[in-house]
Amino acid sequence: MGSVLVTGGAGYIGSHTCVELLECGREVIVIDNFVNSSYESIKRVQDITGKKMKFFEGDMRDRDFLRSVFSENEVDSVIHFAGLKAVGESCEVPLEYYDNNLNSLIALCETMAGFNVKKLVFSSSATVYGDNQPPYNENMKPGLITNPYGRTKYMAEQILSDLSISDGEWSILILRYFNPIGAHESGKIGEDPKGIPNNLMPYILKVAIGELPELKVFGGDYKTPDGTCIRDYIHVVDLAKGHISALKKLDKFKGFDIYNLGTGKGCSVLELINKFEEVCKVNLNYSVGDRRDGDLPVCFADTSKAEKQLNWKAKYDIGRMCEDSWRWQISNPKGYKR
Ligand SMILES: NC(=O)c1ccc[n+]([C@@H]2O[C@H](COP(=O)([O-])OP(=O)(O)OC[C@H]3O[C@@H](n4cnc5c(N)ncnc54)[C@H](O)[C@@H]3O)[C@@H](O)[C@H]2O)c1
Repeated sequence: MGSVLVTGGAGYIGSHTCVELLECGREVIVIDNFVNSSYESIKRVQDITGKKMKFFEGDMRDRDFLRSVFSENEVDSVIHFAGLKAVGESCEVPLEYYDNNLNSLIALCETMAGFNVKKLVFSSSATVYGDNQPPYNENMKPGLITNPYGRTKYMAEQILSDLSISDGEWSILILRYFNPIGAHESGKIGEDPKGIPNNLMPYILKVAIGELPELKVFGGDYKTPDGTCIRDYIHVVDLAKGHISALKKLDKFKGFDIYNLGTGKGCSVLELINKFEEVCKVNLNYSVGDRRDGDLPVCFADTSKAEKQLNWKAKYDIGRMCEDSWRWQISNPKGYKR
C-alpha cells in the first residue's frame, strides 16, 4: 500500500492524525509551509510513535512543488488539512482565505488527477450548517454562513462534489468537524495558537497559566439553560481516529460523501469552564460580557451517520479533554517554542 499524504500535517489536527496513522502502520508524507505551525510538531510526532515520516516544506498552491512531491513518492491517498482557519481573521483578509483555502484545493486535486491518485479526505467544518437548527445532520441544506472562512469550506465542498460528478473514479469524503479540543495524552503535541487565541479552550489555557489576565465569556443571555453558548467539543484524538475510519471507507467506496465528526453532545461555555476548574484544580479568572457578532447560540452534531457507516464514535468526555489540554499546556508553557 502506498503512503498517505497529509497536507497541513504539522498543524493541530494534522499532527494528531499523523500519530494515529503511524500507529496503524501507515507510511506518512507531510506537506506544510508552517504558516501556522512549526517543525517541532513533526519531530514530536516521530518521538511519540518511534516512527519516521517524510516531510516536505512548501506551499500547497505551488503546482511545481506538488508535482515534485507526487513524482518522488508513491501516494495512495490524501488527507487535506492545510488551510487558514481563523473566523475573525477571515473577515479582515478575505482574499487571503479564498486564495489559500480554495487555490490549495484546486492545485492539489489537479496534481492528484495527474498522478491518478483519486482518494481524498477533506477537512470541513460545522460552520457550513450556518443558522440551521441543531442537531445538524449531513442532509441539511447549508444555512446562512456568516464569515469568509465558513464560505471557503462550503465552496470547497461544492468543488469536490462537482469533481466527483465529472469523474466517477474519485473517492472523496468530507469530514465536518465540530469543536476539537484536548491534546495527545503524552503532553507532547497540542494546539499552539499564534497570538491571542480565538477559541475558548486555548484562551482558558492562557488564562490558567497566567499569560492572559482574564477570560471574557461572550454573552450570558442566550436562550440556553445557563445563558452561554453551547458547542459540541470533541477530543482531537477521537477526531484523528475518525480519519483512520474515513481512509478505511475510501478503500471500498467511489463517489462523494459527507460525515459529521462530533460527540453529539452539547456543552455550554460555563460547563466547560467549571469542568476545567474541577479536573485541573485551577481557578479561572473570568467574567461574562457582551455577545460576540456571528456566534450561534447552540451547535451540536447528529453523529449517527458516522457511527453507522464509518464505524466510528467519539469516546473521550469533557473531563478528559480538559485534563489532556492542561497537560499539554503545563508541559509546554510557550507551546512549541521552548
Ligand atoms: N481546529 C478547528 O477548530 C477546526 C474546525 C473545523 C475545521 N477545521 C479545519 O481543519 C483543518 C486543520 O485545522 P487545524 O486546527 O489543525 O489548523 P492548523 O492551523 O493547526 O493546521 C493547518 C496547517 O496547514 C498549514 N498550511 C496552511 N496553509 C498552507 C498552505 N498554503 N500550504 C501548506 N501548508 C499550509 C499550516 O501551517 C498548519 O500547519 C483546517 O482546514 C481547518 O480549517 C479546523
